[in-house]
Amino acid sequence: MSKNRIFSGVQPTGSLHLGNYLGAIRNWARLQDEFEAIYCVVDLHAVTAPHDPKELSRATREVTAGLIASGIDPARSIIFNQSMVPEHAELSWLFNCVARLGWLNRMTQFKEKAGKNRDQASVGLYAYPVLMAADILAYKATHVPVGEDQKQHLELTRDIAQSFNSTYGLEFFPLPEPQIFGSATRVMSLRDGRKKMSKSDESDYSRINMTDGADEIAQKIRKARTDPDPLPGTVDGLAQRPEALNLVSIYAALEDIEIDQVIQEYQGQGFSTFKKALADLAVVRLGPVGNEMKRLTAESGEIDKVLADGAERATQLSRPIVAEVREIMGFLDPKKS
Ligand code: TYM
Repeated sequence: MSKNRIFSGVQPTGSLHLGNYLGAIRNWARLQDEFEAIYCVVDLHAVTAPHDPKELSRATREVTAGLIASGIDPARSIIFNQSMVPEHAELSWLFNCVARLGWLNRMTQFKEKAGKNRDQASVGLYAYPVLMAADILAYKATHVPVGEDQKQHLELTRDIAQSFNSTYGLEFFPLPEPQIFGSATRVMSLRDGRKKMSKSDESDYSRINMTDGADEIAQKIRKARTDPDPLPGTVDGLAQRPEALNLVSIYAALEDIEIDQVIQEYQGQGFSTFKKALADLAVVRLGPVGNEMKRLTAESGEIDKVLADGAERATQLSRPIVAEVREIMGFLDPKKS
């Protein structure tokens, strides 16, 4: 392998939002020069919760358009949808037999998503992080760029890799490193600074969708919850002000500067002035991405071609790795004997 290899994924549920963009996808575009990159629209993960079949294919195309519109070049990087490469599901089963119940019982995302009605959650939702480990390790990826919420899942991936290696006495899988960077690794809801911005929040005012138009973006920022105080003179002054910290962090990420620099520029000013500046900046940075997404989704043939080509290239990489796993584990291949 000449360059280190990165793998990352995004679920095609609902629409892409600012958290996905700043926490992950924008970084994915920036890492393409330095790494061999594989980006996956994880449709098998999307069916761990009840879903509408028509919506799944629409969202798969729209999220793919979002990746391309954010600057990922399908000629250089691989973009594909997970269900097209059966190696993911196969390796996931093998890893179900490596991972321990105790490891999965610790996963906070399962607890949050399953809520009180845990008995009604799908087995797939419980095993979700095992499939994620299979996604990454089917390519022996060394680095995984994600938002902060995926950190625990990546620790599990490392545990699975390590356990496999020690069980079979081989250095077969690398232990992949999470790449969590920028000033927006955890973008919060615009309605509640203690909750993560998410596709599943009931209120559309809690998030900025990548396909929102200029008026919607400006209105959502204008209505975002804040406190009555002006911006403080130091970053420490934001410590007990989660909504204010969130808006300042979003500004810093969109402008590609440090939070400190934003504070220096706006200290002492009220949120009405700051929100106006943030809305203008967000429209300038996100508007072109949203427009390009809409243009690409209107030509669905193009998107399907990208996904089909990506699946072929992804299969070429993952098939020999998973075949080797089968051999290591002792499965008989009568065609070879
Ligand atoms: P998903 O679809 O929830 O999110 C995709 C990426 O966006 C990041 N993200 C955020 N970052 C900052 N602030 C937020 N509010 C925010 N919300 C989401 C996520 O951290 C993620 O990087 N399990 C994964 C998908 C996956 C995957 C993988 C990732 C499946 N297989 C293999 C890496 C490697 C997920 O549900 O992401």
